Amino acid sequence: MSHLDDIPSTPGKFKMEKSPFIHSRMRWHWQSSLAKLTFWSIVFFCLILIFFFRSPSSNPLLQDPYRRSLRTYNWGGPAWEKRVRSSARVRSRNGFSVLVTGAAGFVGTHVSSALKKRGDGVLGLDNFNDYYDPSLKRARQELLERSGVFIVEGDINDSALLMKLFEVVAFTHVMHLAAQAGVRYAMENPGSYVHSNIAGFVNLLEVCKSANPQPAIVWASSSSVYGLNNKVPFSEKDRTDQPASLYAATKKAGEEIAHTYNHIYGLSLTGLRFFTVYGPWGRPDMAYFFFTRDILKRKPIPIFEAANHGTVARDFTYIDDIVKGCLAALDTAEKSTGTGGKKKGPAQLRVYNLGNTSPVPVSTLVSILERLLKVKVKRNIMKLPRNGDVQFTHANVSLAQRELGYKPTTDLQTGLKKFVKWYTSFYSGGKKAAG
Ligand SMILES: NC(=O)c1ccc[n+]([C@@H]2O[C@H](COP(=O)([O-])OP(=O)(O)OC[C@H]3O[C@@H](n4cnc5c(N)ncnc54)[C@H](O)[C@@H]3O)[C@@H](O)[C@H]2O)c1
Ligand SMILES: *[C@@H]1O[C@H](CO)[C@@H](O)[C@H](O)[C@H]1NC(C)=O
Ligand SMILES: *[C@@H]1O[C@H](CO)[C@@H](O)[C@H](O)[C@H]1NC(C)=O
Repeated sequence: MSHLDDIPSTPGKFKMEKSPFIHSRMRWHWQSSLAKLTFWSIVFFCLILIFFFRSPSSNPLLQDPYRRSLRTYNWGGPAWEKRVRSSARVRSRNGFSVLVTGAAGFVGTHVSSALKKRGDGVLGLDNFNDYYDPSLKRARQELLERSGVFIVEGDINDSALLMKLFEVVAFTHVMHLAAQAGVRYAMENPGSYVHSNIAGFVNLLEVCKSANPQPAIVWASSSSVYGLNNKVPFSEKDRTDQPASLYAATKKAGEEIAHTYNHIYGLSLTGLRFFTVYGPWGRPDMAYFFFTRDILKRKPIPIFEAANHGTVARDFTYIDDIVKGCLAALDTAEKSTGTGGKKKGPAQLRVYNLGNTSPVPVSTLVSILERLLKVKVKRNIMKLPRNGDVQFTHANVSLAQRELGYKPTTDLQTGLKKFVKWYTSFYSGGKKAAG
């Protein structure tokens, strides 16, 4: 649910404060050249500080949080390699060895844990960026660590790191879930979408293409590629050429890029178009999550309405259903066909919708939360802003049903009950309030 997909998390602005205190004290020693020198050194130092801290923030492109995440991470060395190997070690017969990108994310954590549970080897990769509260990502990391999944801290656009990982482990599969999610954040940080969803994805595919053997890749696309298309339900063959947000445009570009790597290099690629995924350990930038937080704080809840009082609705999909779809996609993926960067034959290329097939109005979402939280909600009806949110999503999943055996089984009421249970215990157990 897109508009609702984002918390505008304004990066802290640096403020330089002048101190009159320094000035009055310095006056007493004005004659002393030493004091003069000190004074001007301080002025000079402050100017340098102002230059470095102020000037980049006037250019939104330079505010890229990836300036921070592009710092060189601490990776490498024998102890690190041992952890990587042990985490990726297959423990069941015919198990896979899977690299999960975005493993500290919402979907990545659930998929990693499910793979590990059934005996596959799993190595996570995540840059722990601060698009939303990184302490939630750290808590998910702790959870995975307890089940033996190691998350390497690094960026998917770092080719040296990825090459190193493939040198240490011959991954059979890549589950690619790292991305810049959310719709409204593009107004604050457009570069992050290009960095992760385009440059990072290309870098990952480059390394996969050169790996020997090449892994099969399953990656997360999004229902947002259907954009302003209003023929419902959305089927895989429907047009996807009218993106309504930069997020959707980069997801759409990702699909084109995947097609290209499949065609040229023989990489086996499967794209999954998720429809508004929710559940325990979910994303704080999504409506069901921050509605819960705000309802508990007795804040009024905005309910968006399209033109002519049109209902805004989403095909909410419970995380366990999504995880089953992801595992089925991995299980049915064929091997890539290239070697040494050269295609040897045609390779598998698939795209599937993974939704719940029953759109629910946002007002119903709020009523369910109201009942579960036992708090009377004050509603504010507002017009849906035209900044990336579509009015309606509805998945046709018959292709995934036929080819993956995908069948969603959790309705919104049941799924939200599980979410609220997790939310209240997670944020009461000594952890500070979300966001
Ligand atoms: N949750 C949904 O409703 C939904 C809907 C449609 C599509 N998707 C897609 O599913 C995937 C997983 O989404 P999610 O809800 O778990 O989001 P999430 O933000 O919780 O997880 C993404 C993870 O990727 C990491 N990451 C981002 N950029 C990275 C980079 N350059 N290098 C390394 N790590 C990076 C982040 O730190 C984060 O932990 C994404 O591709 C998203 O676009 C999600
Ligand atoms: C991704 O990495 C490449 C190669 O290191 C670098 O040239 C490029 O600037 C990076 N792209 C982004 C958007 O960060
Ligand atoms: C759903 O998608 C399938 C193709 O996978 C198509 O044959 C079918 O007509 C679609 N159903 C509807 C109701 O659009």
